[in-house]
Amino acid sequence: MKMIYTRKDFPDGFQFGCATSSYQIEGHGFGGAGRTHWDDFAATPGNVVRAEHGARACDHYHRWTEDFDLIADANLDVYRFSTSWARVLPDGRGTPNAEGLDFYDRLVDGLLERGLKPAATLYHWELPSALADLGGWRNRDIAGWFGDYTDVIMRRIGDRVWSAAPINEPWCVGWLSHFLGHHAPGLRDIRATARAMHHVLLAHGTAISTMRGLGMGNLGGVFNMEYAAPADDSPEAASAAKLYDGYYNRFFLSGVFHKTYPDEVLEGLGPHMPARWDEDFDVIGAPIDWCGINYYTRKLIAPDKGPWPSHHEVPGPLPKTAMEWEIYPEGLEFFLKRTHAEYSKGLPIYVTENGMAAPDTVIDGAVPDPHRIDYLNAHLAAVQSALADGVPVEGYFIWSLLDNYEWALGYEKRFGVVHVDFDSLQRTPKASYHALKAALTR
Ligand code: FCB
Repeated sequence: MKMIYTRKDFPDGFQFGCATSSYQIEGHGFGGAGRTHWDDFAATPGNVVRAEHGARACDHYHRWTEDFDLIADANLDVYRFSTSWARVLPDGRGTPNAEGLDFYDRLVDGLLERGLKPAATLYHWELPSALADLGGWRNRDIAGWFGDYTDVIMRRIGDRVWSAAPINEPWCVGWLSHFLGHHAPGLRDIRATARAMHHVLLAHGTAISTMRGLGMGNLGGVFNMEYAAPADDSPEAASAAKLYDGYYNRFFLSGVFHKTYPDEVLEGLGPHMPARWDEDFDVIGAPIDWCGINYYTRKLIAPDKGPWPSHHEVPGPLPKTAMEWEIYPEGLEFFLKRTHAEYSKGLPIYVTENGMAAPDTVIDGAVPDPHRIDYLNAHLAAVQSALADGVPVEGYFIWSLLDNYEWALGYEKRFGVVHVDFDSLQRTPKASYHALKAALTR
């Protein structure tokens, strides 16, 4: 089975990449990394499937050369990875871990040696526990702590990375982790949510300014988006979906690109926001050079009589991935167009994550994953439609290179184009990997 589109179907210079994150692949038990709130969350019964954690993960810490060879052999152009705050600064502040800095230095050089562009993300969720003790994202001081961490790591690798983004998926850091409690620190608290959602943007803007100060360019933001569809034709369902779209998708884009938050979101969060939040937009709205969109699925939203936001998700009818996420490529096309028209207005847009989980297994040394090839084809078709409409999409990154630690779902949701056996740690490229490699020949 083949990819429908090949490299030649995309504009010159269009970048194809794959994405990973530190805690999900490196093995946080190695190399002097500090404890993170994910270690604490996973050690608390009921939070993570089988209480799995990232102490070993894919052991990328020791196997990165093999992993980078796989990326280069697939004819990909860019590797989007993250640096772990707790690996660089085990206590979140203070003395850096020399081994950690050396590790990221080696990674960047290893990518460049293979002709791959390093795309760095500074935070993909592994907050040092020492900072969680101080309130983590609820504490306004996190913006300064994050700026200092940005300075430490980027003084070391900032001269060689191709692009950098401060924070992966502000919605997950804010809402998913402080309102729904599904991710570390596992809070379900509206006041904590309002603060985290604002401070995550304050930290984003602070890191952008820090990196500008170091003379870095090609800086962006990575926003996750979920298409919100009303569960029925009623006006109540329409406004429920609009509110979901507001706090999920528009809140963060509005903050960064419009220096304001959507009214309907402030109706609920306003009373819980930190003092003088509306004076922070010059930091938050520091100009960026590109906008990243992580896209996976849509949700059907139905109104209810509970407290704000007074709605809930209902299962949809479309085919689903192993995450129970509906496959809805139209949503990607919608977000590419809307982000360009209403927020980023001409800046390059990258699909910084897209992909699917499936229970892939090795059969006679091969891993047939036609479902993933279908998924990628359908979403690349959405990118093509946006391009045809004049949206400046400049790249597409698959989540993920490797099967890895899928957070609260542990190791059982396999998103990789390369299969990982979590006992032997053996890597086996899946059929989708081979299909991509063929499609991306230069
Ligand atoms: C995104 C995360 C990534 C991975 C995928 C499936 O929200 O950025 O770490 O978990 O979802």
